[in-house]
Amino acid sequence: MENKELLKRIYLLVKPHRRRLVIAVVGMVMVAGLTAGQAYMVKPLMDRIFFDQEQALLNILPWAIVLIFLVKGLFYYLYRYMLESAGQRVIRELRKSIFQHIHTQPTSFFHKTTTGELISRIISDVTLIHVAISRALIGLLKDLVQIIALLGVVFYLDWQMALIVFILLPVAFTPIVNFAKKFRKYSVSNQQTVALISNNVHETIAGQRVVKAFGMERYEAKRFSDLSDRLYHIIARDIRLNSLQHPLMEFLGGLAIAAIIWYGGHQVLSGQSTPGTFFAFLAALMMVYEPVKNIGGMNITIQQGLAAAIRVFNLLDTKPEIKDQPGAIILPPFRKAIKFRDVSFSYNQANPTLRNINLTVVAGEVLAIVGPSGGGKTTLVNLIPRFFEVSAGKILLDDHDISEVTQTSLRDQIAIVEQQTILFNDTVKNNIAYGDLDRSEDEIVTVAKAAHAYDFIQELPEGFDTEIGEGGARLSGGQRQRISIARALLKNAPILILDEATSSLDTESEQEVQKALANLMKNRTTLVIAHRLSTIQNADRILVIQEGRIVEEGTHANLLADGNVYRELYNMQFKNSNSEPSNLTP
Ligand SMILES: Nc1ncnc2c1ncn2[C@@H]1O[C@H](COP(=O)(O)OP(=O)(O)OP(=O)(O)O)[C@@H](O)[C@H]1O
Ligand SMILES: [Mg+2]
Repeated sequence: MENKELLKRIYLLVKPHRRRLVIAVVGMVMVAGLTAGQAYMVKPLMDRIFFDQEQALLNILPWAIVLIFLVKGLFYYLYRYMLESAGQRVIRELRKSIFQHIHTQPTSFFHKTTTGELISRIISDVTLIHVAISRALIGLLKDLVQIIALLGVVFYLDWQMALIVFILLPVAFTPIVNFAKKFRKYSVSNQQTVALISNNVHETIAGQRVVKAFGMERYEAKRFSDLSDRLYHIIARDIRLNSLQHPLMEFLGGLAIAAIIWYGGHQVLSGQSTPGTFFAFLAALMMVYEPVKNIGGMNITIQQGLAAAIRVFNLLDTKPEIKDQPGAIILPPFRKAIKFRDVSFSYNQANPTLRNINLTVVAGEVLAIVGPSGGGKTTLVNLIPRFFEVSAGKILLDDHDISEVTQTSLRDQIAIVEQQTILFNDTVKNNIAYGDLDRSEDEIVTVAKAAHAYDFIQELPEGFDTEIGEGGARLSGGQRQRISIARALLKNAPILILDEATSSLDTESEQEVQKALANLMKNRTTLVIAHRLSTIQNADRILVIQEGRIVEEGTHANLLADGNVYRELYNMQFKNSNSEPSNLTP
């Protein structure tokens, strides 16, 4: 990103808060001016009180000093408060927009971007930008104003001596500029490593049981320690430059002061200057040192902030691959049929996951999808809510191409129980009512009963108000599934997708849940994916998917008679069991 464009975008972020910033700048200019005033005070103090012995001035000067400090403090408060609060407002808005933006991204985005990376954008990069804007950018302004004011005093007092300072200042700035370039480069690798670290922490904590079960503690510790080492080495480079900067500038400052003492001392002794001028000059010069030094440090901060801003803007610039078309219509309530017309899909350009799928599911139908693992069943149903975009062909809902309707109106009509149960670190109640948190207690209890979750929920320490831990960690796999079934039931959408929804239940609960689902399916269009064929025998139609193609299609009886793949799957499941498979409907 060009520097100019970068600054423009930062300006746009800051713009809504410009009133606060203007007040801050006014306060800051006042602070700078008063600081210069303080330096100048040394001159009358020395010359008129000590040398000319003006009693009257001695009575006024202390008051003047108190007043200056007081006023300066007041302006400092204004400057600091307005500045910091404006900065915090900027990051608050930025965080919100990053969060919203992330959630407009389609599923495929999250396959490409790690959680740690996104967390580091929202937490640390945003903070870096804030620090760069409020401390550095504005601080820089303050220090520059202060330097100019103090230099003004210096020139006013003795322009010849001031020239010596002027020759030395640029020398001090050269290394600062050089350091800055390096820092910007390091900052990038620094943040990348921080993202890797947060991702690693996130993953291993979420997967701590697997880490334990496979005895990978040492391996994970090593992986983490390598990352930490890498971060250390990057930071160590920062520290080396950073630590060098200070003594270097201090030394240059010392040189300037030595030169002034030598030259100024001679001036005073030969009567060409007064001790007051000399000390005031020295005081102003020492005061200049502080802001000059600050600028050195700020440069690093600004560079880090700019690098962070580039990352954040790049994230905000990623266009969602799936978005509502201009003029997308609101899908009317589903009534007739879901149609797949020659649909192909691939996750990557290389090999297609689904090939030429032609399929019509009429309203009210229960369509079962079976087939070997990895065949494309989940992928197929994920295309209906448009989690992914078809690579070729069309999907129609009641003759509306799903890419031409709004995503919200499309997804409103679909309730889905995912193959991987996803629950949130919240109460049972909120997990069931997710999607519509205003639903009544009664409705929640009803769906919980239908999903056979009511009994176990009652036994939880706080019933429906029990917090279930991250990802529902405090529940069993089957319990989690039942909660997500209840969630789908509550949504009460015309299209129901069940992807291995009952796979973690024991036979008895499964039969019970199947009954509940059967009831539910009555007025709905259902796509049900199952490995256990026992659960889908009564489906209106069964689709066998293998290697991304529909290879067989028909009722259970038909397929058992004619279908090769289906019969094989069936025989494999029931060869060794004498028990008759259970039924889908009562
Ligand atoms: N996000 C992804 N990126 C790339 N390839 C993927 C992705 N998700 C799935 N695949 C691949 O697509 C193919 C079909 O996966 P899919 O999940 O649809 O299978 P499935 O029929 O549901 O299998 P299972 O019965 O095991 O759930 C698999 O080969 C899988 O490796
Ligand atoms: Mg699947």
